[in-house]
Amino acid sequence: MTNKDHVRIFDTTLRDGEQSPGFSMTMKGKLRMAKALSALNVDVIEAGFAAASPGDFEAVQAIAEVADGPRVCSLARVTKGDIDAAAAALEPAKVKRCHVFIGTSPTHRKYKLQLRKGEILDRIEDGVAYAASLFDDVEFSAEDALRTEKTFLAEAMRVAVEAGAKTLNVPDTVGYTTPEEIYDTFRYLIDHVEPGDDVVFSAHCHNDLGLAVSNSLAAIRAGVRQIECTINGIGERAGNAAMEEVVMALHTRRSYFGVETNVDTKHFFDTSRTLEEVTGEKVQRNKAIVGRNAFAHEAGIHQHGMLKSRETYEIMRPEDVGAPKSALVLGKHSGKHALFARLEELGHEVDPAETDAIFAAFKKLADERHEVTDEELRTLVSGASNRVVLAETV
Ligand code: KIV
Ligand code: ZN
Repeated sequence: MTNKDHVRIFDTTLRDGEQSPGFSMTMKGKLRMAKALSALNVDVIEAGFAAASPGDFEAVQAIAEVADGPRVCSLARVTKGDIDAAAAALEPAKVKRCHVFIGTSPTHRKYKLQLRKGEILDRIEDGVAYAASLFDDVEFSAEDALRTEKTFLAEAMRVAVEAGAKTLNVPDTVGYTTPEEIYDTFRYLIDHVEPGDDVVFSAHCHNDLGLAVSNSLAAIRAGVRQIECTINGIGERAGNAAMEEVVMALHTRRSYFGVETNVDTKHFFDTSRTLEEVTGEKVQRNKAIVGRNAFAHEAGIHQHGMLKSRETYEIMRPEDVGAPKSALVLGKHSGKHALFARLEELGHEVDPAETDAIFAAFKKLADERHEVTDEELRTLVSGASNRVVLAETV
């Protein structure tokens, strides 16, 4: 596989994810996550923002010690102090990256930084050059890139490349862009920055309009070869692009996208559950790929199709993401096929003369319940009210 076909997965669960309300993690939790991310085989783990606090510094350092495989990265502003803190914290890492950033949009220039365009470019040049004097691998991010004038964004990226950046990250910091727009932005940057083959463009999309994954995929179509993302899509405000969704879209639609990642997808389910445990925040039931409903079917027509062939209603296999096997959930929408298939699995041989009565009793019960459990099914088929005598198979 050539570099052109490879999309790097840059995980920022422990930085952008951890910094959002409700998702803070203890050191022990961060180390559990770092191990899970290593097993997943992501390319880069952004372990934190070393200069942000002593706790962040220690976390970056501890992750740098345990991460096995992925490159460990710290975020830093384009200042000597931040870059020195990143270098000190990342000292134990086998492979490392310094990720420097500064805001480039009119809003950031005017209100946050109070700097003119020329001053921003000077800071990029000095900060990236200083980081490149300490690290072989430097990433530059233009914060709020998608609300930055395209011509100035390209200029900022050219300055960063000349100063030694090897990854050019274009964050949609406020989740403002759309798939068509981000595609056009990257086409423009690729044409106007012309950074050379050893430099990779990266997308970092936030989910304020629910478009983070779509925008990331559109960026890949435009030629981007690094995606910044998080497990379960956690991150500032509405979150970042969910790694499991981006990677499984690339995997499931391989012939459409024509690219691969290094991720070992069968660890997605466990990694998602590990994150739930270390943050105490559960993923929504219908969350793509890792939600409890991702491979569950209740509607009678769907269950009938699934019993005939899985492919009728599933585009991925649960085992490919490490999820438990597909579940046919019995509820008020279920039909006879699923009910009697489940009873057979439970070891009940149903007398054909009794099927209508059992199905009617099941529908009555299901109307009162969200879901009919195996225990309730057993009670139902053996209940005197059904006047059903069942031969139990062992
Ligand atoms: O959203 C953002 O702009 C960021 C950068 C610091 C990369 O997280
Ligand atoms: Zn971000």
